[in-house]
Amino acid sequence: MDALRIEGGQRLSGTIAVDGSKNAALPALAAAILAQDTFTLRGVPPLQDIQNMTHLLGELGCAVQVDDRDITIDTTDTSRVHAPYDIVRTMRASICVLGPLLAARGEARVAMPGGCAIGDRPVDLHLRGLEALGATVSLEGGDMVLRADTLKGATVFMGGPFGSTVLGTANVLCAAVRATGETIIESAACEPEVAFLARLLRAMGADIEGEGTPRITVRGVERLSGVDIDLMPDRIVAGTLAVASAITNGNVTLERFPMDHLLAVLDRLRESGVHVEQLDSTQSPDCCTVQITTDRRLRPILFTTQPHPGFPTDLQAQVMSLLCLADGNSIVTEKIYPDRFLHVPELARMGATVIRLGATVVVQGVDELVGAPVMASDLRGGAALVLAGLAAKGETLVRRIYHMDRGYTNLEVQLASLGAHIERVDGGPN
Ligand code: EPZ
Repeated sequence: MDALRIEGGQRLSGTIAVDGSKNAALPALAAAILAQDTFTLRGVPPLQDIQNMTHLLGELGCAVQVDDRDITIDTTDTSRVHAPYDIVRTMRASICVLGPLLAARGEARVAMPGGCAIGDRPVDLHLRGLEALGATVSLEGGDMVLRADTLKGATVFMGGPFGSTVLGTANVLCAAVRATGETIIESAACEPEVAFLARLLRAMGADIEGEGTPRITVRGVERLSGVDIDLMPDRIVAGTLAVASAITNGNVTLERFPMDHLLAVLDRLRESGVHVEQLDSTQSPDCCTVQITTDRRLRPILFTTQPHPGFPTDLQAQVMSLLCLADGNSIVTEKIYPDRFLHVPELARMGATVIRLGATVVVQGVDELVGAPVMASDLRGGAALVLAGLAAKGETLVRRIYHMDRGYTNLEVQLASLGAHIERVDGGPN
């Protein structure tokens, strides 16, 4: 199995462009099921999760053509409605096809996703939302089966115990665009990826207002046409690369940086002594060029993950790695996935002083981290270990990097281009 070997201690410098967003691409590609014409999404990173999604769309009768980073989809056979467990178990985001299949084909049969390393991830809100639009829901042989001859607009509440649901909102949005009448999605997820989906659907002919706010209004239309659209930059990749610069006390310039989507993170990073400067003020703040530099000593901070525009859970682990080297005690609280801390014991193996108390971790800054063999258990936690390895003294070997390949395009190549001593090696059996 592949592993990443890192010789820590190099200050990163240079310029790199942020890839397109995986989490915007997945629901966007699923929305191709709604198009009665050719659908093209441009600038899609060649990630494992993207391949899983195009494979699933193929299973669902879509003709998928991948030309470098541009994906074109034509829906030829509309008879297939089954997302089987073999695919869903490799990627939970397969659930994105639920709303589009129901709206376009009158039925969706999607395997119930199983357990997940980052904690319990129920799907009740997806089902409740689609039921409110008139779907019947049953569980058959481990599959969620939803049916509706016609969907009817309604007021749908998408809030749950841990905030609103991102992919649940995406599913309801995709179903509501083809429902008769008006749908109001209350407590809608405000994440930029949901707003991107709404813009994409509008470009296909949907009538949507309010995306990016907790109330989205949708008036159903009979037909959606094709679309040709560029993918937005990935705010989580952008944040990860910013931390890579900061943790090595580097000087990295990031192009296509979605500053507007990262305000909560930038606020915390600045408090800690990381400087993020927009280099060209004429560029749009949701896709601009920034330079990342850092004070000699980092200050400890408090942060709590929250739904957007709060601090994203998908950057909790990476920023925690940075705080391991701050001058004092930081406190990190996880409010979206209270068990998303599998990186904590691995950071401790590298000399970090990290104490978990329920959904909170106290990070006592140390003077240095020390390289060690460690194991990634999930995508973002794995990225956090790589970041720690960049700063650590000596060699770090991060195993199970297939987790990172789901969400970062050749992370080692990107970091090596900035001067990191990092390479993909055979890490032996897992
Ligand atoms: C999306 O997952 C992202 N995935 C996740 O990214 C991200 O961590 C998460 O949103 C939160 O921002 C994609 O976009 C593909 P949720 P999603 O439904 O939509 C609870 C990454 O590293 N909940 O917004 O599945 C849930 O348990 C990943 O790229 C219910 O209670 O997450 C969680 O506590 C991993 N019932 C909270 O809501 C439901 O029906 C938010 O989850 C659904 C969710």
